[in-house]
Amino acid sequence: MVFVGPEAPLAAGIADALWETGIPVVGPKKACAIIEFDKAWARNFMKKYGIEGCPAYEVFTEKEPAYAFIEKLGDVAVKPSGLTGGKGVKVMGDQLPDLEAAKAYTSELLEKGPVVIEERFIGEEFTLQALVDGKSLVFFPAVQDHKRAYEGDLGPNTGGMGSYTDAGEILPFMLPDDLEKAKKIMQDTVKALYEETATGYKGILYGQFILTVSGPKVVEFNARFGDPEAMNVIPLIETDFVEIMSAMVKGTLGKLPVNFSKKATVCKYAVPAGYPDNPEKDSEVFVEDIGKASIYYASVYEKEGKVYTTGSRAIAVVGCAETIDAAEKIAQNALENIRGKLFSGKTLALLPSSRRELTI
Ligand code: GLY
Repeated sequence: MVFVGPEAPLAAGIADALWETGIPVVGPKKACAIIEFDKAWARNFMKKYGIEGCPAYEVFTEKEPAYAFIEKLGDVAVKPSGLTGGKGVKVMGDQLPDLEAAKAYTSELLEKGPVVIEERFIGEEFTLQALVDGKSLVFFPAVQDHKRAYEGDLGPNTGGMGSYTDAGEILPFMLPDDLEKAKKIMQDTVKALYEETATGYKGILYGQFILTVSGPKVVEFNARFGDPEAMNVIPLIETDFVEIMSAMVKGTLGKLPVNFSKKATVCKYAVPAGYPDNPEKDSEVFVEDIGKASIYYASVYEKEGKVYTTGSRAIAVVGCAETIDAAEKIAQNALENIRGKLFSGKTLALLPSSRRELTI
């Protein structure tokens, strides 16, 4: 069995090629992986099947109609249709200060291909990841990822500086009904993918949501685990992972009880100084006593027994405990024992006040 991690090989059809040679794959075939690698396709598909959580949007290949739509919506997200390693989407009120900036970015993207312009969602982000066997979904606890490089949600967007789960399925700013709505969206998506492509989605489905005042809305779907979100949820699995993967490829996941431990987790990345714009590369990293945390070596390399940065996110640590606070302390203590030209977010797990306003 092969478990395909990243999206680029899935987009190239590696799952199709492996199945053809008789090797079962956890990871969707190209017909279904399109939900991640073609953002315009994904929105048109949501609209066609009436899947909840789809924003007002349109897909453009020309400037003038795109500019008119930006004016009409007034507050937009601008997305290139293809894969950009999670770094292509820009939203007003964040990376795009005004309508003119939104138009300029649209114009830049149109040089390379179609652009999706959509209504901007306002609320708290959360991620729901599910194991899927073609029909049945098993959901991991919801995760929140912190994208900004610096303390206090400031600085440039990154691949994700850290992420957390609570001890249970939902996050502190969510109600159980928010989770049920997000689950239903993902279930409807898997069902509609089968209707559309006649291919069962077997793999990890990642739904990125914004919890707005009118419920969860879909930012995008990915055809894989999130990084860092995978590091929060995989350690919570109590059921044998090979049994889970076997059930996914055979289509029998619905009959397998999959259990998760009810612990909170906090994951934090140590990243090179200057990341993401001007990262310190080839700089040695020293790992000392990380206590009870788990450690994941990410974008680093080893030379003559020493560990060096490459320029991307270097090392992640994960704390797992009864509460978010206790998990955060375990992760933070570990980070303080990793030395080098690095930085990290110290208070990733603290709740911004906007989340409380949202659910009251
Ligand atoms: N953390 C976001 C992603 O993996 O795409």
